[in-house]
Amino acid sequence: MAVFAENIIAWQKQYGRHDLPWQNATNPYAIWVSEIMLQQTQVAAVIGYYANFMARFPTIAVLANASQEEVLQSWSGLGYYSRARNLHASAQKIMDDFNGEFPQDFDDILSLSGIGRSTAAAISTFALNQPQPILDGNVKRVFARYFSISGATNETKIVQTMWQIAERENPINPQDAISYTQGLMDLGATLCTRGRPRCSECRMNIGCQAYANKEVHLLPTPKPRKTIPQRSIYFLVYINGNDIMLQKRANSGVWGGLWSFPETTSMPEMGQLLPKFTHTFTHFKLHIQPVLINMRKQEKMPNSLWIGFDEAVKAAIPTPVRKILLTLATKKAA
Ligand code: ADE
Repeated sequence: MAVFAENIIAWQKQYGRHDLPWQNATNPYAIWVSEIMLQQTQVAAVIGYYANFMARFPTIAVLANASQEEVLQSWSGLGYYSRARNLHASAQKIMDDFNGEFPQDFDDILSLSGIGRSTAAAISTFALNQPQPILDGNVKRVFARYFSISGATNETKIVQTMWQIAERENPINPQDAISYTQGLMDLGATLCTRGRPRCSECRMNIGCQAYANKEVHLLPTPKPRKTIPQRSIYFLVYINGNDIMLQKRANSGVWGGLWSFPETTSMPEMGQLLPKFTHTFTHFKLHIQPVLINMRKQEKMPNSLWIGFDEAVKAAIPTPVRKILLTLATKKAA
């Protein structure tokens, strides 16, 4: 085994994370759910959702038979809801095409919606005793520094170089590969962080080229800054007594399938302005002006329902909707 892998494994054993809820799970389903939740999302945000999700959908069959509504409700607040829609669709595909058993073949795993090469590799390594190299955002940062690779980590050429390194360094023995893969993830998440890497505490600093060259702060090379698009909308918050109107969004886009408020781009004629706020997605900023509109009766609108306030908070709603509901609750109490 190469020195890099040996050192990562030694580091993981001593300093890595060993008590994450999905570690030591051998059930591929449990690993799959964890890896999907952990895409672009930190461990601390995932842990509570993971326990709830596994309690509610303990097997592939239970998930496949659940309604999309229930699945999105469990995901409500975690963001990137296409992950939940894909997980649900993939569970149904596993029932239909793989007899309800999570597939063991790498290309079959890769064929499931929502699973790219790195996620397929993590599941193969952790759950199926088939070591495969991974390359996610954390690993790219560790490689860029340790092997001093400059160039934006979303450029095709750099990505190819990094996959070659990932393949070259990956241990063949499954037990080594599990510690190594977890070690790469843990190092990137705890010491080799983007903003303030803790190099003086890092045992991997011996051998780290960026550390030797004093260029840790320059790597990975920042991606060219794009101006992120902004959008301004009004949320129409219809209320009637203790009930509120929610509208189901179409099954695509960032909040596809979730319950939200009807939205417009022009100011409604009547209504009371609630505090304005901005919700930031990875790729754009959404400026939201909620407008409270008191209705004398519960008029029906397309794809909408009137729902008690307490129930609404527990429904499949995106974070900004929950925020407005909680603001209203405070207002009512005052
Ligand atoms: N990020 C992605 N997969 C992970 C895992 N298995 N443990 C910790 N962080 C992760």
